[in-house]
Amino acid sequence: MTLKNKKILIIIGGGIAAYKSLDLIRLLKKNHVEVRTILTKSGREFVTPLSLSTLTKSKTFENIFDSESEAEIDHIALSRWADIILVIPTTANFMSKLSLGKAEDLATTVLLAADKDIILVPAMNVRMWLHKATQSNLKILQDFGYLFIGPEKGEMACGEFGEGKMSSPRQIFSYLKNYFDKKNIVKERNLKALVTAGPTREYIDPIRYISNESSGKQGYEIAIALSKLGIKTTLITGPSKLAPPKGIKVKKIISADEMLNEVKKTLPVDLAVCTAAVADFKPAEKSKNKIKKKKLNFKSINFIKNSDILDFLSKNNRNRPQIVAGFSAETKNVIKNSTQKMKDKNCDLIFANDVSKKEIGFNSDFNKVSMIDQKGNIKILPKNKKSFIANKIAQILLDKLFDDRNIN
Ligand code: CTP
Repeated sequence: MTLKNKKILIIIGGGIAAYKSLDLIRLLKKNHVEVRTILTKSGREFVTPLSLSTLTKSKTFENIFDSESEAEIDHIALSRWADIILVIPTTANFMSKLSLGKAEDLATTVLLAADKDIILVPAMNVRMWLHKATQSNLKILQDFGYLFIGPEKGEMACGEFGEGKMSSPRQIFSYLKNYFDKKNIVKERNLKALVTAGPTREYIDPIRYISNESSGKQGYEIAIALSKLGIKTTLITGPSKLAPPKGIKVKKIISADEMLNEVKKTLPVDLAVCTAAVADFKPAEKSKNKIKKKKLNFKSINFIKNSDILDFLSKNNRNRPQIVAGFSAETKNVIKNSTQKMKDKNCDLIFANDVSKKEIGFNSDFNKVSMIDQKGNIKILPKNKKSFIANKIAQILLDKLFDDRNIN
């Protein structure tokens, strides 16, 4: 049981759903989870420190300026102690404070100082949830990396019906179990991934080359997201202005041939994601010296095809990664052409990009992709920051890996 001995810090927010936190704590304690709680000032209107302490068998923390609590365990240590932090219920007001990065009480200070995953469990009236301000805060918080459970659709305490109802203690418990199960398996099995990113350059002579507009952003973000899931990730990147992400092995290459060589050296891996905009062709000959304009009739250059790295990975019988995913840059018939590309190259999934749209794709911070799989399923990941799309993609890839290995 992967929840056994896990340390969960629960922050109780100020909403009527706060009473459900008691059921969740009971469920967690029954499963041998260590629980500590922070009770916010408004949370105190709904549950008492005594009921929390009775269930957790530990002190309920309330006040950042409480010298006794700070002496026992300070607010930084409290956030370091936890394996994960949960805010239940998360109100609209609390989301707003977090999106501004406030540190005005113990709860917000602990969250700002946290180095662990934080899960928000929203509960509010449907209008409050759907309000543009809350939806915009949701996007900001997702971009900061906060995870969300719910909210669900249903009848609310106020009698209205809609999205905003807090997930049940059972649903929260299942989410936590799944979260730790997956972390455990990733670690136990020492899962590895490789990501190709950026453009390649194909030199004509020592100073001239052909290349493309790719910035590498989406690939870098996917490598970061996979690594955050605990997967040992190698990023193989063409020339990019982006700083190498911390904690990830980065191999810098220039040409498509070099990228293929590094990919071969990095195998075996469990997951491969090809986001690189690899040049399809290279000059048949590269001149050793700068080509002088007077000497050369520069009307044409002979090109030869580069190897297709995605194709190589997908059809590699000896060392095929269990999941191979590609990207597809198209300007028309995006789904049809991308599906064909996936079939031709035999990869498991392809993420289709419409690169004719300036506000998404190459060089932009935003993206919108359609995930297509071999069964013909299509899932649209709506326009969002590339970091957000990357987290979704990493999760899809990990889920697929687990499904294929029948890990539940
Ligand atoms: N790809 C690759 N090696 C190549 C060319 C492409 O690994 N030599 C990969 C890309 O990283 C991407 C996928 O193949 O995951 C599709 O790339 P894309 O540029 O969309 O298509 P191409 O296969 O190059 O075909 P076309 O240019 O005709 O659209």
